Amino acid sequence: MGETELRNADIDTALAETKEAYVARNAKSLARYVEATAVMPGGNTRTVLFYAPFPIAIARGEGCRLWDMDGAEYVDFLGEYTAGIYGHSHPVIRAAVIRALDGGINLGAHNLLEARFARAVCDRFGLERVRFTNSGTEANLMAISLARVFTRRPKVMVMEGGYHGAVFTFSGGGSPINAPFEFVLAPYNDIEATVALIDRHAADLAAVILEPMMGGGGCIQAEPAYLHALRAATTRIGALLILDEVMTSRLAPGGLQSVHGVKPDLTTFGKYIGGGMSFGAFGGRADIIDMFDPRRADALPHAGTFNNNVLTMSAGLAGLTEVYTPAAAQTLNARGDALRERLNALCRAAGAPMQFTGRGSMMAVHMMRGPIRSAADAAKGDAKLKELFFFDMVAQGIWLAKRGMMTLSLPIGDAECDKLAGAVEEFLASRRSLLAAAG
Ligand SMILES: Cc1ncc(COP(=O)(O)O)c(C=O)c1O
Repeated sequence: MGETELRNADIDTALAETKEAYVARNAKSLARYVEATAVMPGGNTRTVLFYAPFPIAIARGEGCRLWDMDGAEYVDFLGEYTAGIYGHSHPVIRAAVIRALDGGINLGAHNLLEARFARAVCDRFGLERVRFTNSGTEANLMAISLARVFTRRPKVMVMEGGYHGAVFTFSGGGSPINAPFEFVLAPYNDIEATVALIDRHAADLAAVILEPMMGGGGCIQAEPAYLHALRAATTRIGALLILDEVMTSRLAPGGLQSVHGVKPDLTTFGKYIGGGMSFGAFGGRADIIDMFDPRRADALPHAGTFNNNVLTMSAGLAGLTEVYTPAAAQTLNARGDALRERLNALCRAAGAPMQFTGRGSMMAVHMMRGPIRSAADAAKGDAKLKELFFFDMVAQGIWLAKRGMMTLSLPIGDAECDKLAGAVEEFLASRRSLLAAAG
């Protein structure tokens, strides 16, 4: 056997042992999973949560802690893929939901909360107008459809490896169930190639949509010069710039766009802004969004039974104005920056080909050295080592995304950060030879 084959055999052995212990620890989760497969395809209704041999089922959460069916306790470093910023039992969110419940939840009318919540969202993120949806996917569907009508052009530029929802998946070349728009795929952070593509499709391009930091794609930051170049190029050719801040709006009081000073035409939102309830929104320039003004004879339609549902309106409003204030956003993101730097220092000290990318309260692990500026760069990481990292973290009571993403919620404090740092240190020590062999 060659060196690479030997190394792969070692990782396979380590993974097999780790998974064997996982199966033994999670008998109840396995039984639940098997039952679920009878009525749900692969026992699943949310693709991102599935992993082999079977996913653990969480029975309960409190603060920043989770308990699985078999009784194991975790620190929740997943934070519901950024939607769970308030933790599981924030008293302000809880009170807001109960208030809404007490007032009747399906009113079939404009209610007293929606315009107040819209005002809070507009003020916070510098929007002239906003409309609510029920998910980030829906927000992007609406924003992109609106851009195509507004510009009377068909094409939409997206980024290689980008993700904007279940029907906007652009890793590995796309998905057969993507929305049937004409997409133009651009390489993230490559100014020259992207601007050339924008110019090539100038007459047909309705919009360019991207995240100012790819979240699901591995917490890869857009370089400020790239964002500014896209702003200039879209303005020049009359296409709209849409920033998807479904995840990244949490990274600064005014969203990540405010940090870079890039003003898009439209911004899409989701996740934590609904206070942990189902949520999405798109907003920005009044002259564009006002196409939905129902007083207009040519108004575009946008109905949605739950667009103004009072549970989301109430929890979202309380969360944004009373809990995740601009000051709280700054504190949480500073904590995240410090934690990520601490974890990277551990990787460097161990000489391991491993790093944590991200910004503020969002990060992702990559099993590789060197800069990561695109999905193509991230794909060079060692997938098996990352899988081992996931199972080792879970075994140590750290809850995270299978793909290695972690986020901070407000209840996470120093003790929880210490626990994560300890778990990473343990991984670096116990897997030292595998990491060394990886490069
Ligand atoms: C950047 C981004 N946009 C859109 C979405 C879709 O949001 P939802 O899952 O609420 O449909 C996600 C979800 O992960 C996301 O990360």
